[in-house]
Amino acid sequence: MKTVIFGLGYVGFTAACCIAEEGHTVIGIDVSPAKVAQINAGKAPIIEPRVAAMLTAARAAGRLRADTEIGDHLRGADLAIVCVGTPSAVDGAHDMGYIANVTREIAQALAADPEAGPKTEPGTGAPLAIAYRSTVRPGTMEELVRPIFETALGPAFAHRVELVYNPEFLREGSAVQDYFAPPKIVIGTEGARPSAAMETLNANLDAPRFLVGFREAEITKFVDNSWHAVKVAFANEIGRACLGLGVSAKAVHQIFVADDKLNISPYYLRPGGAFGGSCLPKDVRALQYIGADTGANLHLIDSLLRSNEAHKHRLFEHATEGLAPGASVLMAGLAFKAETDDLRESPNVDLARKLLTAGYELKIFDPAITPEALVGKNLGYAFSQLPELERLLIDKPTAEAGGFARVIATNATVRALNLPAGTDLCDIGSLP
Ligand SMILES: NC(=O)c1ccc[n+]([C@@H]2O[C@H](COP(=O)([O-])OP(=O)(O)OC[C@H]3O[C@@H](n4cnc5c(N)ncnc54)[C@H](O)[C@@H]3O)[C@@H](O)[C@H]2O)c1
Repeated sequence: MKTVIFGLGYVGFTAACCIAEEGHTVIGIDVSPAKVAQINAGKAPIIEPRVAAMLTAARAAGRLRADTEIGDHLRGADLAIVCVGTPSAVDGAHDMGYIANVTREIAQALAADPEAGPKTEPGTGAPLAIAYRSTVRPGTMEELVRPIFETALGPAFAHRVELVYNPEFLREGSAVQDYFAPPKIVIGTEGARPSAAMETLNANLDAPRFLVGFREAEITKFVDNSWHAVKVAFANEIGRACLGLGVSAKAVHQIFVADDKLNISPYYLRPGGAFGGSCLPKDVRALQYIGADTGANLHLIDSLLRSNEAHKHRLFEHATEGLAPGASVLMAGLAFKAETDDLRESPNVDLARKLLTAGYELKIFDPAITPEALVGKNLGYAFSQLPELERLLIDKPTAEAGGFARVIATNATVRALNLPAGTDLCDIGSLP
């Protein structure tokens, strides 16, 4: 394939070397004359393991050169890859200026030259795949990039351009290794349609593949990078708490990461229900206390309960969207999880309270809850939060008889119900 890469920084230059090593021809375009001159003189513009040798080999094979101008480099090209920077703007959002500029340049080059793009038989014209690798906020492909091409190319856009968003997962310091062994490959396209050019590009890469719409692909890097930041901040807060308590942070780390069932695993990572129950809120609160007491200042831990409260409120809004106050609602599941009668700090008790306060006609189905069987703290909590609990609970046949404007599934309890066809079901345990 002939590939044209826009932006020869850490991402673009590494990709240029790796793609050339795979046997493709690469033209790199960068606005920096110094970078372009360096590359054409066989000198890597970045320090990164392996790239210098790869550049030398690619140049010797005639497979990699650079230019400051797009010129007619898109003629015969099968793929363009955009790797320009998206630094922080003053308001904290990404500065999208580089993306807008490079997009305009590519669009104008295509508009000016009907032969720009893949070499095909006349009339069979395959579009030029243009893959964006820069990290951009969801909506960028549809609201910034596509309109620029549509304006420049008019109706020809549809057959001349195939837009792709393909996030990059390499880490500086191991960029080449990461390019050839990525943790995953995410391809975002219009309607999640496959891209032949991207399949050719990634043919030799062994990684889980995800073909999704633009927005899911665009948000991937935000999710990943924020998660990595949360991991580091969490690890360091635990380290500070350990220091404050005279506990070995190293030993605690080893115990923590050895648990690949609940700790280092997909558990507790599905967007849905808030956390609750008799342990998590209580122990988070106690760790906050330890943090304050030892001067460890655990800001991330301090934010957890507030984040959880915000989530509970958002779930209430989600569960009642489009539902007029006074409507009849069935909640399936009152305890914090199915098959337990533990109501202490159950987020579902909060939800029931919010629904009643907002004026909904609420009924609750939870076969594990029988008010007369509740004892001790559990009994006290249930009745202090929901004094009318006995009046709200209904049995299975009544729940299955239907007649509710909406059924809110809070946990797996809903699986016990055979709900009438056409039931308006909102599952807040697993967001769509
Ligand atoms: N650095 C990383 O480890 C990494 C990893 C994954 C994703 N990303 C994302 O990839 C993108 C690029 O990151 P980077 O670190 O390689 O940036 P960088 O600043 O090192 O490189 C960007 C390059 O784009 C060039 N450029 C700017 N406008 C241009 C134009 N109109 N035409 C051609 N070239 C132009 C610049 O001169 C520069 O050389 C960013 O969105 C970043 O968030 C970076």
